[in-house]
Amino acid sequence: MKERILKILIVDDEEVLTLGYSKCLIKVGYEVKTASSGEEAIKLLKDEMFDLVLLDIRLPHMSGMEVLSKALEIDPDLIVIMITAHGSVQSAVDAMRMGAFDYLLKGFDHEELRTVVKKALDMYRLKREVSQLQENERKNYPDIAIFGNSPKIKYIKDLIKVVARTPKTSVLIEGESGTGKELVAKAVHNLSSRSDKPLIAINCSAIPENLMESELFGYEKGAFTDAKSLKKGVFELAHGGTLFLDEISSMKLSLQPKLLRVLETQSFRRIGGTSDIKIDVRIIAATNQELKECVDNGSFREDLYYRLKVMVINLPPLRERVEDIVPMAKMFIEQNNKEFSKNIVGFSKEAEQLMQNFDWPGNVRELKNIMERAVILCQGNVVTEEYLPIELRSAKPKEPKPISYQSPTGEALSLQDIERKHILEMLDKFNGNKSKAARVLNISRSTLREKLKQYGIS
Ligand SMILES: Nc1ncnc2c1ncn2[C@@H]1O[C@H](COP(=O)(O)OP(=O)(O)OP(=O)(O)O)[C@@H](O)[C@H]1O
Ligand SMILES: [Mg+2]
Repeated sequence: MKERILKILIVDDEEVLTLGYSKCLIKVGYEVKTASSGEEAIKLLKDEMFDLVLLDIRLPHMSGMEVLSKALEIDPDLIVIMITAHGSVQSAVDAMRMGAFDYLLKGFDHEELRTVVKKALDMYRLKREVSQLQENERKNYPDIAIFGNSPKIKYIKDLIKVVARTPKTSVLIEGESGTGKELVAKAVHNLSSRSDKPLIAINCSAIPENLMESELFGYEKGAFTDAKSLKKGVFELAHGGTLFLDEISSMKLSLQPKLLRVLETQSFRRIGGTSDIKIDVRIIAATNQELKECVDNGSFREDLYYRLKVMVINLPPLRERVEDIVPMAKMFIEQNNKEFSKNIVGFSKEAEQLMQNFDWPGNVRELKNIMERAVILCQGNVVTEEYLPIELRSAKPKEPKPISYQSPTGEALSLQDIERKHILEMLDKFNGNKSKAARVLNISRSTLREKLKQYGIS
């Protein structure tokens, strides 16, 4: 993987010195910008992302200490190395107490400069790598792998590899609940050149409308009464990496133009901010509703839809890849064997049959949960029917049953008749379970209740 070029800001009012430092650092491959005053430095730090700042303690107007404190307020992760004269080592120590990483005594040579800068950047990288490693451990690796050998899943895996290779392209992941959208988003990120940068996820339906904007864009200190300190939004936190916008269809219409603007300009402004901040972020959006339908019914902007769907990954429901069900169930059994110190080896023929006949409205998540339950309950070393939940045991053999749009006497049915009939069929299929029927019908439970009342179904 290619390393990103690290960016350094040099702040010193003596131009001859700045020029020398910059030449020396550019020579070894860093990108360098310079500022001759604290004010100029702060402006640059607000506009651009830097990895390290070389900061003279003695500056005209705004002092180096003041710049340090403001710089860390803008980006608490910034590495700052102070440049100090021999007589003022004490202030360098004070600066380190405030959060500077190291200091250089004036008169240092180029070799020393490069060493100190490299050491700081290496330390920082190590810190990040360790926390990344811990993060991966925590996430439990088998969970990240995408399981399945059906042609549909193989196609998805190939698609993920292709998409991962274009790290700037927006991706839209569509699929029913529990089909693995989040898993796919993680895979795209992990396989891309952004994998050593953060993957930040935000669920658009879980955050109240009035907080969403500050979650996305952050705010400046004092932007409103409660803004006691600067807050970074997810766009800023994901810089260099990937932003996963889950349940994008829930994003309010009022916010959609702002998101579109970020996608178009690759820059944004914090709430209360006066300047735009450039970012480099890949957007992956997910939805379990067909976004095109949301466009058609006016709840989603068409221009944003086209921006997001540059690449679309459509996850098939589990019932459309029946050949994956049993192998995947075995994989989950294996994981749970370890977890619960059991030694279950597989399923009875009948249990396998039931699993293949079932419709899995909750898809892989449902399969995973049911396997955990089976491992806990199972007494022997084979999972038999009795350890599967009731809805599975009553799953009828799959027979392609065409929905009839005719009445028994052969007349065409009205739209309302068809709706009534379909609702009854779904209720029958799930043994009267309204939540499940509503889920498959893709309507809320309260809408289903209304319709039942309307059609006089009790
Ligand atoms: N192909 C797969 N291989 C292994 N595990 C999978 C696979 N697909 C999904 N899972 C597992 O199923 C569970 C649900 O997946 P995930 O959270 O990604 O679904 P989702 O589509 O985001 O669901 P929702 O729409 O409800 O948010 C997770 O525990 C995930 O690890
Ligand atoms: Mg999800």
